[in-house]
Amino acid sequence: MNKKTIRDIDVKDKRVLVRVDFNVPIDNATGDIIDDTRITAALPTIAYLREQNATVILVSHLGRPDGKVVESARLAPVAGRLGDLLGMEVPCASDVVGASAQATVASLQAGGVGMLENVRFEPGEEKNDPALAKKLASFADVFVNDAFGTAHRAHASTAGVADHLPAVAGFLMEKEIDYLGRVVEDPEPPVAAIIGGAKISSKIAVLQHLLSKVSVLLIGGGMASTFLKAQGVDVGASLVEDDQLDTARDVIAEAARRGVTLGLPVDAVVADKFAEDAEARILNVTAVPDGWMILDVGPNTASDYIAKLVGVRTVVWNGPLGVFEWKAFAGGSRALATALATSQATVVIGGGETVALVQGMGIADKFAHVSTGGGASLEFLEGRVLPGVAALLDK
Ligand code: 3PG
Repeated sequence: MNKKTIRDIDVKDKRVLVRVDFNVPIDNATGDIIDDTRITAALPTIAYLREQNATVILVSHLGRPDGKVVESARLAPVAGRLGDLLGMEVPCASDVVGASAQATVASLQAGGVGMLENVRFEPGEEKNDPALAKKLASFADVFVNDAFGTAHRAHASTAGVADHLPAVAGFLMEKEIDYLGRVVEDPEPPVAAIIGGAKISSKIAVLQHLLSKVSVLLIGGGMASTFLKAQGVDVGASLVEDDQLDTARDVIAEAARRGVTLGLPVDAVVADKFAEDAEARILNVTAVPDGWMILDVGPNTASDYIAKLVGVRTVVWNGPLGVFEWKAFAGGSRALATALATSQATVVIGGGETVALVQGMGIADKFAHVSTGGGASLEFLEGRVLPGVAALLDK
């Protein structure tokens, strides 16, 4: 990575403002944190800063409260979980830059850790308001951005604050950029990409960017139906973006022109309705009954995809192959995940759903890297510059 990290700057005895992405899933009914991966992923940076006797002031968003105070999006439960993980009290302010935040910051001792309130309660956050950025910066001597998951947003706490403080990457940010960067810039060949998800329109940029870098491209998820229809297959009531049929044909033609092995489903798990308890059948993709829809790839497709990955040295996977949240339609994604977990290739997994899949299977630790970024990892794989990274000091 060509950006400075916390190793490249003096943080000893300093007050350090750390942007983290603690936008964790919360159970609406109980308010409990469902998955604390994003909190644990920030621990190495926090631990390092505490070893340096720095005072750690954390700033994060949670959800999309849109510039207003939303009680259910307060960060106190998140600070509580962090405190449990650190084995220490982590005070959480009840505002972002107001009296409570100032008092919380003032109360912190060297080596202490505190949190500001959800930064998206401030209307200036998403507008990248310089006044808010300046107030945030006033709490600290150094800014560390460890929020890879939010690095694709040019907000006051991700980009604007870097105008006022020396700004460097934390360890999580560094790790994400190193792994995802290696996949797009300097991968060990042959390289494969597995791209799934509901819509081709949201994945077209990544498909186009990766086509020039891979030997194998496997398509799954809802968008596979658009590819099949583009080839003249009758996919029944499957989700199809009719305005993207030409796009799909272009991808197929470009893959052929470049000699990329393209994987499209040959069979599918089809359902009579979009529901967990739908009647499910395994059929050839050319035999989808009227009114039925494709909700997963079939077993022959999963085997074909796994066979196409033999000998590949680098794999990037973004987007599941089917509606993996429902058991009847999880088979394709699970078979592929199981095969990749034992493969010798460097496997990098990004995108919220794919990450949830491998975490749910308890095999996330079997992959070289599982990104904490959803939209951020996708934009990175599209080759876009992430504003939260661009704002950091160059090496
Ligand atoms: C995410 O969960 O992808 C990040 O926390 C960014 O959230 P956002 O899409 O609301 O900006």
